[in-house]
Amino acid sequence: MKKPISGFSKLSKAEKMAWLSQEYTEDPQGTIELLQSYWHPDPATQQLHEEFIENTLSNYFLPFAIAPNFEINGQLYAVPMAIEESSVVAAASKAAKYWGERGGFKATVLKTEKVGQVHFVCAAPEGVVQQFFEEVKSQILADTDELTEKMRSRGGGILDLQLRDKTASIEHYYQLHAAFETKDAMGANFINTCLEQMAKSLEILAAEHPSMQAYPVEVVMSILSNYVPDCLVRAEVSCPVSQMAEAGMDGEGFARKFVQAVEIAKEEPYRAVTHNKGIMNGIDAVVLATGNDFRAIEAGVHAYAARDGQYRSLSEAEIKEIDGELCFRFWMDLPLALGTVGGLTRLHPMVKLALDVLGKPNAQELMGITAVAGLAQNFAALRSLTTTGIQKGHMKMHLLNILNQLGASSDEKEALVDYFKDHTVSNAAVEKALTEHRNK
Ligand code: HMG
Repeated sequence: MKKPISGFSKLSKAEKMAWLSQEYTEDPQGTIELLQSYWHPDPATQQLHEEFIENTLSNYFLPFAIAPNFEINGQLYAVPMAIEESSVVAAASKAAKYWGERGGFKATVLKTEKVGQVHFVCAAPEGVVQQFFEEVKSQILADTDELTEKMRSRGGGILDLQLRDKTASIEHYYQLHAAFETKDAMGANFINTCLEQMAKSLEILAAEHPSMQAYPVEVVMSILSNYVPDCLVRAEVSCPVSQMAEAGMDGEGFARKFVQAVEIAKEEPYRAVTHNKGIMNGIDAVVLATGNDFRAIEAGVHAYAARDGQYRSLSEAEIKEIDGELCFRFWMDLPLALGTVGGLTRLHPMVKLALDVLGKPNAQELMGITAVAGLAQNFAALRSLTTTGIQKGHMKMHLLNILNQLGASSDEKEALVDYFKDHTVSNAAVEKALTEHRNK
Protein backbone atom coordinates (compact mmCIF):
# COMPACT_ATOMS: atom_id res chain seq x y z
CA MET A 1 0.00 0.00 0.00
CA LYS A 2 1.46 3.36 -1.05
CA LYS A 3 1.86 6.12 1.54
CA PRO A 4 0.98 9.80 0.97
CA ILE A 5 3.95 12.13 0.68
CA SER A 6 4.23 15.38 2.58
CA GLY A 7 6.21 18.31 1.19
CA PHE A 8 6.31 17.03 -2.41
CA SER A 9 5.94 20.57 -3.73
CA LYS A 10 9.13 21.60 -1.89
CA LEU A 11 11.31 18.92 -3.54
CA SER A 12 13.59 19.76 -6.46
CA LYS A 13 12.57 18.64 -9.93
CA ALA A 14 15.15 15.83 -9.83
CA GLU A 15 13.84 14.67 -6.44
CA LYS A 16 10.24 14.75 -7.70
CA MET A 17 11.18 12.68 -10.74
CA ALA A 18 13.10 10.19 -8.62
CA TRP A 19 10.20 9.83 -6.18
CA LEU A 20 7.60 9.40 -8.93
CA SER A 21 9.63 6.90 -10.90
CA GLN A 22 10.42 4.82 -7.82
CA GLU A 23 6.95 4.87 -6.34
CA TYR A 24 4.72 4.71 -9.40
CA THR A 25 6.57 3.15 -12.34
CA GLU A 26 8.07 -0.22 -13.12
CA ASP A 27 11.05 1.26 -14.95
CA PRO A 28 12.45 4.17 -12.88
CA GLN A 29 15.47 4.81 -15.11
CA GLY A 30 13.38 4.61 -18.29
CA THR A 31 10.81 6.98 -16.79
CA ILE A 32 13.45 9.57 -15.94
CA GLU A 33 14.97 9.30 -19.40
CA LEU A 34 11.57 9.68 -21.03
CA LEU A 35 10.73 12.75 -18.96
CA GLN A 36 14.11 14.29 -19.74
CA SER A 37 13.78 13.54 -23.45
CA TYR A 38 10.79 15.90 -23.55
CA TRP A 39 12.68 18.81 -21.97
CA HIS A 40 13.32 21.78 -24.22
CA PRO A 41 17.01 21.96 -25.27
CA ASP A 42 17.15 25.61 -24.19
CA PRO A 43 17.14 25.66 -20.35
CA ALA A 44 15.52 29.12 -20.23
CA THR A 45 12.60 27.99 -22.42
CA GLN A 46 12.27 24.83 -20.34
CA GLN A 47 12.15 26.88 -17.16
CA LEU A 48 9.51 29.16 -18.68
CA HIS A 49 7.29 26.15 -19.36
CA GLU A 50 7.92 24.68 -15.93
CA GLU A 51 6.77 27.88 -14.30
CA PHE A 52 3.38 27.87 -16.04
CA ILE A 53 2.14 25.29 -13.53
CA GLU A 54 3.26 23.53 -10.36
CA ASN A 55 5.18 20.27 -9.80
CA THR A 56 6.29 20.28 -13.46
CA LEU A 57 8.51 17.38 -14.48
CA SER A 58 8.52 17.65 -18.25
CA ASN A 59 6.50 18.88 -21.21
CA TYR A 60 3.51 17.25 -22.85
CA PHE A 61 3.52 17.84 -26.59
CA LEU A 62 0.47 18.41 -28.75
CA PRO A 63 0.84 18.87 -32.49
CA PHE A 64 0.68 22.49 -33.66
CA ALA A 65 -0.83 22.71 -37.15
CA ILE A 66 -2.14 25.26 -39.61
CA ALA A 67 -5.42 25.15 -41.51
CA PRO A 68 -4.92 27.55 -44.43
CA ASN A 69 -7.36 29.32 -46.78
CA PHE A 70 -9.88 30.63 -44.24
CA GLU A 71 -11.51 33.65 -45.85
CA ILE A 72 -13.24 35.53 -43.03
CA ASN A 73 -14.92 38.90 -43.63
CA GLY A 74 -12.94 39.19 -46.85
CA GLN A 75 -9.56 38.54 -45.22
CA LEU A 76 -7.48 35.41 -45.67
CA TYR A 77 -6.22 33.60 -42.55
CA ALA A 78 -4.03 30.59 -41.87
CA VAL A 79 -5.59 29.30 -38.65
CA PRO A 80 -3.29 27.72 -36.03
CA MET A 81 -4.67 24.61 -34.34
CA ALA A 82 -3.27 22.56 -31.44
CA ILE A 83 -5.00 19.18 -31.21
CA GLU A 84 -4.21 15.48 -30.96
CA GLU A 85 -7.04 14.05 -33.10
CA SER A 86 -6.36 13.07 -36.70
CA SER A 87 -8.58 14.46 -39.48
CA VAL A 88 -9.62 17.62 -37.59
CA VAL A 89 -7.10 19.90 -39.30
CA ALA A 90 -7.67 18.25 -42.69
CA ALA A 91 -11.43 18.68 -42.25
CA ALA A 92 -11.10 22.34 -41.26
CA SER A 93 -8.80 22.96 -44.22
CA LYS A 94 -11.14 21.23 -46.61
CA ALA A 95 -14.14 23.24 -45.36
CA ALA A 96 -12.10 26.47 -45.55
CA LYS A 97 -11.31 25.72 -49.19
CA TYR A 98 -14.93 24.84 -49.94
CA TRP A 99 -16.33 28.07 -48.48
CA GLY A 100 -13.46 30.13 -49.88
CA GLU A 101 -14.84 29.19 -53.29
CA ARG A 102 -18.37 30.26 -52.23
CA GLY A 103 -17.89 33.73 -50.77
CA GLY A 104 -16.03 32.90 -47.58
CA PHE A 105 -17.11 33.03 -43.93
CA LYS A 106 -18.70 35.95 -42.17
CA ALA A 107 -18.05 36.59 -38.48
CA THR A 108 -19.92 39.17 -36.42
CA VAL A 109 -19.40 39.91 -32.75
CA LEU A 110 -22.89 40.43 -31.29
CA LYS A 111 -22.02 41.29 -27.66
CA THR A 112 -18.94 41.35 -25.42
CA GLU A 113 -20.31 41.44 -21.88
CA LYS A 114 -18.88 39.21 -19.14
CA VAL A 115 -20.32 38.41 -15.74
CA GLY A 116 -19.13 38.03 -12.17
CA GLN A 117 -21.01 37.46 -8.94
CA VAL A 118 -20.60 38.01 -5.22
CA HIS A 119 -22.66 35.30 -3.54
CA PHE A 120 -23.76 36.22 -0.04
CA VAL A 121 -26.30 35.40 2.65
CA CYS A 122 -28.22 37.80 4.84
CA ALA A 123 -31.24 37.13 7.07
CA ALA A 124 -32.71 40.65 6.82
CA PRO A 125 -36.48 40.83 6.15
CA GLU A 126 -37.70 41.12 2.56
CA GLY A 127 -36.92 44.48 0.99
CA VAL A 128 -34.33 45.55 3.55
CA VAL A 129 -31.34 44.22 1.57
CA GLN A 130 -32.72 45.79 -1.60
CA GLN A 131 -33.15 49.16 0.10
CA PHE A 132 -29.64 48.95 1.58
CA PHE A 133 -28.20 48.01 -1.83
CA GLU A 134 -29.84 50.99 -3.54
CA GLU A 135 -28.26 53.28 -0.93
CA VAL A 136 -24.72 51.83 -1.12
CA LYS A 137 -24.46 50.75 -4.78
CA SER A 138 -22.60 53.88 -5.90
CA GLN A 139 -20.17 53.54 -2.98
CA ILE A 140 -19.49 49.86 -3.83
CA LEU A 141 -18.71 50.92 -7.39
CA ALA A 142 -16.63 53.90 -6.30
CA ASP A 143 -14.53 51.59 -4.13
CA THR A 144 -13.40 49.77 -7.30
CA ASP A 145 -12.33 52.97 -9.07
CA GLU A 146 -8.63 52.45 -8.53
CA LEU A 147 -8.84 48.87 -9.76
CA THR A 148 -10.79 49.73 -12.90
CA GLU A 149 -8.90 52.89 -13.86
CA LYS A 150 -6.67 51.27 -16.50
CA MET A 151 -9.48 49.17 -17.95
CA ARG A 152 -11.71 52.25 -18.16
CA SER A 153 -8.99 54.09 -20.03
CA ARG A 154 -9.16 51.29 -22.65
CA GLY A 155 -12.94 51.63 -22.91
CA GLY A 156 -13.81 48.78 -20.54
CA GLY A 157 -14.77 48.45 -16.89
CA ILE A 158 -17.86 47.61 -14.86
CA LEU A 159 -20.99 48.01 -16.99
CA ASP A 160 -23.67 47.22 -14.46
CA LEU A 161 -24.22 46.09 -10.90
CA GLN A 162 -27.45 44.54 -9.65
CA LEU A 163 -28.69 42.90 -6.50
CA ARG A 164 -30.39 39.58 -7.23
CA ASP A 165 -32.70 38.14 -4.60
CA LYS A 166 -32.35 34.35 -4.68
CA THR A 167 -34.06 33.67 -1.37
CA ALA A 168 -36.83 31.74 -3.12
CA SER A 169 -34.33 29.03 -4.09
CA ILE A 170 -31.88 29.13 -1.13
CA GLU A 171 -32.76 30.66 2.24
CA HIS A 172 -31.17 34.14 2.77
CA TYR A 173 -29.20 33.90 -0.49
CA TYR A 174 -28.48 37.01 -2.58
CA GLN A 175 -26.04 37.93 -5.31
CA LEU A 176 -24.29 41.03 -6.46
CA HIS A 177 -24.46 40.36 -10.18
CA ALA A 178 -21.96 42.49 -12.12
CA ALA A 179 -21.44 42.90 -15.86
CA PHE A 180 -17.98 43.75 -17.22
CA GLU A 181 -16.33 44.83 -20.45
CA THR A 182 -12.75 43.61 -20.48
CA LYS A 183 -11.72 44.60 -24.05
CA ASP A 184 -8.81 42.41 -25.29
CA ALA A 185 -8.32 40.58 -21.99
CA MET A 186 -10.25 37.41 -21.17
CA GLY A 187 -10.68 39.30 -17.92
CA ALA A 188 -10.74 36.60 -15.23
CA ASN A 189 -8.21 38.30 -12.98
CA PHE A 190 -9.68 41.77 -13.49
CA ILE A 191 -13.21 40.56 -12.78
CA ASN A 192 -12.23 38.52 -9.72
CA THR A 193 -10.22 41.40 -8.26
CA CYS A 194 -13.17 43.78 -8.69
CA LEU A 195 -15.56 41.25 -7.17
CA GLU A 196 -13.40 40.70 -4.10
CA GLN A 197 -13.29 44.46 -3.57
CA MET A 198 -17.07 44.67 -3.97
CA ALA A 199 -17.50 41.87 -1.42
CA LYS A 200 -15.30 43.70 1.07
CA SER A 201 -17.21 46.96 0.59
CA LEU A 202 -20.52 45.14 0.91
CA GLU A 203 -19.60 43.63 4.26
CA ILE A 204 -18.18 46.88 5.65
CA LEU A 205 -21.08 49.04 4.44
CA ALA A 206 -23.63 46.56 5.80
CA ALA A 207 -21.93 46.51 9.22
CA GLU A 208 -22.14 50.34 9.32
CA HIS A 209 -25.70 50.65 7.98
CA PRO A 210 -28.45 51.19 10.61
CA SER A 211 -31.06 48.93 8.97
CA MET A 212 -28.53 46.12 8.39
CA GLN A 213 -26.60 46.07 11.67
CA ALA A 214 -28.82 43.35 13.11
CA TYR A 215 -28.45 41.24 9.93
CA PRO A 216 -24.79 40.74 9.07
CA VAL A 217 -23.87 40.08 5.47
CA GLU A 218 -21.85 36.91 5.08
CA VAL A 219 -20.04 36.64 1.75
CA VAL A 220 -19.87 33.02 0.59
CA MET A 221 -17.67 33.61 -2.47
CA SER A 222 -16.81 36.07 -5.21
CA ILE A 223 -16.03 34.74 -8.66
CA LEU A 224 -16.50 35.40 -12.37
CA SER A 225 -18.91 33.23 -14.33
CA ASN A 226 -17.71 31.24 -17.32
CA TYR A 227 -21.29 31.33 -18.59
CA VAL A 228 -21.17 34.27 -21.00
CA PRO A 229 -24.38 34.29 -23.08
CA ASP A 230 -23.84 38.03 -23.60
CA CYS A 231 -20.33 37.61 -25.00
CA LEU A 232 -21.49 36.24 -28.30
CA VAL A 233 -20.12 35.85 -31.80
CA ARG A 234 -21.90 34.67 -34.95
CA ALA A 235 -20.12 32.69 -37.67
CA GLU A 236 -21.97 32.04 -40.90
CA VAL A 237 -21.76 30.90 -44.51
CA SER A 238 -24.29 30.97 -47.31
CA CYS A 239 -24.55 30.25 -51.01
CA PRO A 240 -27.13 29.26 -53.63
CA VAL A 241 -27.91 25.54 -53.28
CA SER A 242 -27.10 25.20 -56.99
CA GLN A 243 -23.41 25.49 -55.97
CA MET A 244 -23.62 22.53 -53.58
CA ALA A 245 -23.93 19.41 -55.74
CA GLU A 246 -22.25 16.59 -53.84
CA ALA A 247 -21.64 12.85 -54.03
CA GLY A 248 -24.24 12.06 -56.69
CA MET A 249 -26.80 14.46 -55.16
CA ASP A 250 -27.81 17.73 -56.78
CA GLY A 251 -27.16 20.87 -54.72
CA GLU A 252 -30.68 21.07 -53.34
CA GLY A 253 -30.67 17.40 -52.39
CA PHE A 254 -27.41 17.72 -50.48
CA ALA A 255 -28.43 20.99 -48.82
CA ARG A 256 -31.75 19.48 -47.67
CA LYS A 257 -30.02 16.43 -46.22
CA PHE A 258 -27.55 18.70 -44.46
CA VAL A 259 -30.34 20.84 -42.96
CA GLN A 260 -32.07 17.65 -41.82
CA ALA A 261 -28.88 16.54 -40.05
CA VAL A 262 -28.75 19.86 -38.19
CA GLU A 263 -32.46 19.61 -37.29
CA ILE A 264 -31.88 16.17 -35.81
CA ALA A 265 -29.08 17.60 -33.65
CA LYS A 266 -31.45 20.40 -32.56
CA GLU A 267 -34.01 17.94 -31.25
CA GLU A 268 -32.08 14.84 -30.20
CA PRO A 269 -29.65 15.27 -27.29
CA TYR A 270 -27.69 12.07 -28.03
CA ARG A 271 -26.92 13.43 -31.49
CA ALA A 272 -26.52 17.04 -30.26
CA VAL A 273 -23.64 16.12 -27.94
CA THR A 274 -21.65 14.49 -30.76
CA HIS A 275 -22.57 17.25 -33.19
CA ASN A 276 -21.30 19.88 -30.73
CA LYS A 277 -18.22 17.78 -29.97
CA GLY A 278 -17.40 18.11 -33.66
CA ILE A 279 -17.76 21.90 -33.38
CA MET A 280 -15.49 21.91 -30.32
CA ASN A 281 -12.83 20.01 -32.31
CA GLY A 282 -12.27 23.26 -34.15
CA ILE A 283 -12.93 25.66 -31.28
CA ASP A 284 -10.67 23.94 -28.72
CA ALA A 285 -7.84 23.57 -31.21
CA VAL A 286 -7.76 27.33 -31.87
CA VAL A 287 -8.38 28.20 -28.22
CA LEU A 288 -5.41 26.03 -27.19
CA ALA A 289 -3.12 27.31 -29.94
CA THR A 290 -3.88 30.90 -28.95
CA GLY A 291 -3.26 30.30 -25.24
CA ASN A 292 -6.84 30.64 -24.04
CA ASP A 293 -8.65 28.66 -21.37
CA PHE A 294 -10.40 25.78 -23.15
CA ARG A 295 -12.08 24.52 -19.95
CA ALA A 296 -13.81 27.86 -19.52
CA ILE A 297 -14.86 27.88 -23.17
CA GLU A 298 -16.12 24.28 -23.04
CA ALA A 299 -18.15 24.89 -19.86
CA GLY A 300 -19.70 28.08 -21.21
CA VAL A 301 -20.48 26.72 -24.65
CA HIS A 302 -22.20 23.56 -23.40
CA ALA A 303 -24.25 25.56 -20.89
CA TYR A 304 -25.31 27.79 -23.79
CA ALA A 305 -26.28 24.74 -25.83
CA ALA A 306 -28.73 23.86 -23.03
CA ARG A 307 -30.02 27.39 -22.41
CA ASP A 308 -33.69 26.54 -23.02
CA GLY A 309 -33.53 23.50 -20.73
CA GLN A 310 -32.63 20.94 -23.39
CA TYR A 311 -29.17 20.29 -24.79
CA ARG A 312 -29.28 21.17 -28.50
CA SER A 313 -27.12 21.70 -31.58
CA LEU A 314 -25.15 24.94 -31.43
CA SER A 315 -25.35 25.40 -35.19
CA GLU A 316 -28.37 26.08 -37.36
CA ALA A 317 -29.07 25.62 -41.04
CA GLU A 318 -31.84 26.66 -43.42
CA ILE A 319 -32.77 26.83 -47.07
CA LYS A 320 -34.59 30.01 -48.11
CA GLU A 321 -35.71 31.46 -51.38
CA ILE A 322 -33.92 34.75 -52.05
CA ASP A 323 -34.73 36.64 -55.28
CA GLY A 324 -36.22 33.51 -56.78
CA GLU A 325 -33.17 31.38 -55.94
CA LEU A 326 -32.90 28.70 -53.25
CA CYS A 327 -30.10 29.63 -50.85
CA PHE A 328 -28.41 27.61 -48.14
CA ARG A 329 -27.39 29.32 -44.89
CA PHE A 330 -25.42 27.69 -42.08
CA TRP A 331 -24.56 29.60 -38.93
CA MET A 332 -23.82 29.45 -35.24
CA ASP A 333 -23.91 31.90 -32.32
CA LEU A 334 -21.31 31.02 -29.76
CA PRO A 335 -20.42 32.48 -26.34
CA LEU A 336 -16.63 32.91 -26.44
CA ALA A 337 -14.80 34.92 -23.78
CA LEU A 338 -11.35 35.03 -25.35
CA GLY A 339 -8.31 37.18 -24.73
CA THR A 340 -5.39 38.29 -26.87
CA VAL A 341 -3.51 39.97 -24.02
CA GLY A 342 -2.59 38.64 -20.60
CA GLY A 343 -2.42 35.00 -19.53
CA LEU A 344 -0.19 32.87 -21.75
CA THR A 345 -0.52 35.19 -24.75
CA ARG A 346 2.82 36.93 -24.24
CA LEU A 347 4.53 34.12 -22.34
CA HIS A 348 4.24 31.00 -24.47
CA PRO A 349 6.43 31.36 -27.58
CA MET A 350 4.10 29.17 -29.68
CA VAL A 351 1.05 31.15 -28.57
CA LYS A 352 2.81 34.33 -29.57
CA LEU A 353 3.56 32.78 -32.96
CA ALA A 354 -0.08 31.68 -33.36
CA LEU A 355 -1.30 35.22 -32.67
CA ASP A 356 1.32 36.69 -35.00
CA VAL A 357 0.22 34.30 -37.77
CA LEU A 358 -3.34 35.54 -37.27
CA GLY A 359 -2.13 39.12 -37.69
CA LYS A 360 -2.16 39.99 -33.96
CA PRO A 361 -5.96 39.97 -33.69
CA ASN A 362 -7.84 41.79 -30.97
CA ALA A 363 -10.21 39.74 -28.81
CA GLN A 364 -13.21 40.37 -31.06
CA GLU A 365 -11.32 39.26 -34.17
CA LEU A 366 -10.14 36.14 -32.36
CA MET A 367 -13.75 35.38 -31.32
CA GLY A 368 -14.70 35.49 -35.00
CA ILE A 369 -11.81 33.33 -36.22
CA THR A 370 -12.43 30.75 -33.50
CA ALA A 371 -16.17 30.54 -34.14
CA VAL A 372 -15.49 30.14 -37.86
CA ALA A 373 -13.09 27.25 -37.15
CA GLY A 374 -15.91 25.58 -35.19
CA LEU A 375 -18.43 26.13 -37.97
CA ALA A 376 -15.98 24.84 -40.59
CA GLN A 377 -15.37 21.73 -38.54
CA ASN A 378 -19.08 21.14 -38.15
CA PHE A 379 -19.61 21.62 -41.89
CA ALA A 380 -16.85 19.14 -42.76
CA ALA A 381 -18.16 16.50 -40.36
CA LEU A 382 -21.78 16.86 -41.52
CA ARG A 383 -20.71 16.86 -45.16
CA SER A 384 -18.94 13.54 -44.59
CA LEU A 385 -21.69 12.10 -42.40
CA THR A 386 -24.41 12.85 -44.95
CA THR A 387 -22.41 11.60 -47.95
CA THR A 388 -19.55 9.09 -47.61
CA GLY A 389 -19.87 8.45 -43.86
CA ILE A 390 -17.26 9.67 -41.40
CA GLN A 391 -14.95 6.66 -41.39
CA LYS A 392 -13.64 7.01 -44.95
CA GLY A 393 -11.93 10.39 -44.47
CA HIS A 394 -11.25 10.04 -40.76
CA MET A 395 -9.55 6.64 -41.14
CA LYS A 396 -7.58 7.91 -44.14
CA MET A 397 -6.09 10.55 -41.83
CA HIS A 398 -5.73 8.06 -38.96
CA LEU A 399 -3.66 5.70 -41.11
CA LEU A 400 -0.28 6.96 -39.87
CA ASN A 401 -1.36 6.51 -36.24
CA ILE A 402 -2.29 2.88 -36.94
CA LEU A 403 1.01 2.30 -38.76
CA ASN A 404 2.96 3.88 -35.88
CA GLN A 405 1.12 1.66 -33.40
CA LEU A 406 2.12 -1.36 -35.49
CA GLY A 407 5.77 -0.22 -35.48
CA ALA A 408 5.97 0.37 -39.24
CA SER A 409 9.27 1.73 -40.58
CA SER A 410 9.46 4.84 -42.79
CA ASP A 411 9.66 2.70 -45.95
CA GLU A 412 6.72 0.58 -44.83
CA LYS A 413 4.68 3.71 -44.06
CA GLU A 414 5.38 5.11 -47.49
CA ALA A 415 4.37 1.87 -49.19
CA LEU A 416 1.19 1.48 -47.16
CA VAL A 417 0.08 5.10 -47.52
CA ASP A 418 0.38 4.52 -51.25
CA TYR A 419 -1.54 1.21 -51.05
CA PHE A 420 -4.40 2.79 -49.04
CA LYS A 421 -4.92 5.58 -51.57
CA ASP A 422 -7.44 3.22 -53.18
CA HIS A 423 -8.25 0.81 -50.32
CA THR A 424 -10.49 1.36 -47.29
CA VAL A 425 -8.60 1.96 -44.05
CA SER A 426 -9.50 -0.01 -40.92
CA ASN A 427 -7.29 -1.35 -38.13
CA ALA A 428 -7.64 -4.91 -39.42
CA ALA A 429 -7.03 -3.95 -43.06
CA VAL A 430 -3.85 -2.04 -42.16
CA GLU A 431 -2.52 -4.89 -40.03
CA LYS A 432 -3.20 -7.39 -42.85
CA ALA A 433 -1.64 -5.17 -45.51
CA LEU A 434 1.46 -4.56 -43.39
CA THR A 435 1.91 -8.29 -42.77
CA GLU A 436 1.55 -9.02 -46.48
CA HIS A 437 3.98 -6.23 -47.33
CA ARG A 438 6.54 -7.65 -44.88
CA ASN A 439 6.09 -11.16 -46.27
CA LYS A 440 6.69 -10.02 -49.84
P1 HMG B 1 -10.59 14.17 -48.94
O1 HMG B 1 -11.65 14.58 -49.88
O2 HMG B 1 -10.12 12.77 -48.99
O3 HMG B 1 -9.35 15.13 -49.12
O4 HMG B 1 -11.08 14.54 -47.48
P2 HMG B 1 -8.51 15.46 -50.39
O5 HMG B 1 -7.31 14.57 -50.37
O6 HMG B 1 -9.35 15.47 -51.63
O7 HMG B 1 -8.04 16.97 -50.09
C1 HMG B 1 -8.97 18.04 -50.12
C2 HMG B 1 -8.56 19.07 -49.08
O8 HMG B 1 -8.79 18.53 -47.77
C3 HMG B 1 -7.09 19.43 -49.12
O9 HMG B 1 -6.84 20.43 -50.07
C4 HMG B 1 -6.89 19.94 -47.72
O10 HMG B 1 -7.45 21.22 -47.57
C5 HMG B 1 -7.72 18.94 -46.91
P3 HMG B 1 -5.30 20.68 -50.55
O11 HMG B 1 -4.45 20.92 -49.36
O12 HMG B 1 -4.88 19.42 -51.27
O13 HMG B 1 -5.41 21.86 -51.44
N1 HMG B 1 -6.87 17.76 -46.61
C6 HMG B 1 -5.78 17.79 -45.82
N2 HMG B 1 -5.17 18.76 -45.14
C7 HMG B 1 -4.08 18.44 -44.43
N3 HMG B 1 -3.55 17.20 -44.39
C8 HMG B 1 -4.12 16.18 -45.06
C9 HMG B 1 -5.28 16.46 -45.81
N4 HMG B 1 -6.07 15.72 -46.57
C10 HMG B 1 -7.02 16.52 -47.05
N5 HMG B 1 -3.59 14.95 -44.99
C11 HMG B 1 -11.09 14.72 -45.12
C12 HMG B 1 -10.47 14.02 -46.35
C13 HMG B 1 -10.58 14.02 -43.88
C14 HMG B 1 -10.65 16.18 -45.13
C15 HMG B 1 -12.65 14.65 -45.26
O14 HMG B 1 -13.03 13.30 -45.38
C16 HMG B 1 -13.35 15.25 -44.06
O15 HMG B 1 -13.52 16.43 -43.96
N6 HMG B 1 -13.83 14.39 -43.15
C17 HMG B 1 -14.43 14.82 -41.88
C18 HMG B 1 -13.46 14.50 -40.80
C19 HMG B 1 -13.86 15.02 -39.44
O16 HMG B 1 -14.88 15.62 -39.25
N7 HMG B 1 -12.99 14.76 -38.48
C20 HMG B 1 -13.19 15.16 -37.12
C21 HMG B 1 -12.98 13.97 -36.24
S1 HMG B 1 -14.41 12.98 -36.25
C22 HMG B 1 -15.24 13.66 -34.89
O17 HMG B 1 -14.70 13.66 -33.85
C23 HMG B 1 -16.47 14.47 -35.02
C24 HMG B 1 -17.79 13.87 -35.41
O18 HMG B 1 -18.21 12.80 -34.61
C25 HMG B 1 -18.73 15.05 -35.28
C26 HMG B 1 -20.13 14.75 -35.69
O19 HMG B 1 -20.59 13.60 -35.53
O20 HMG B 1 -20.80 15.72 -36.13
C27 HMG B 1 -17.71 13.39 -36.81
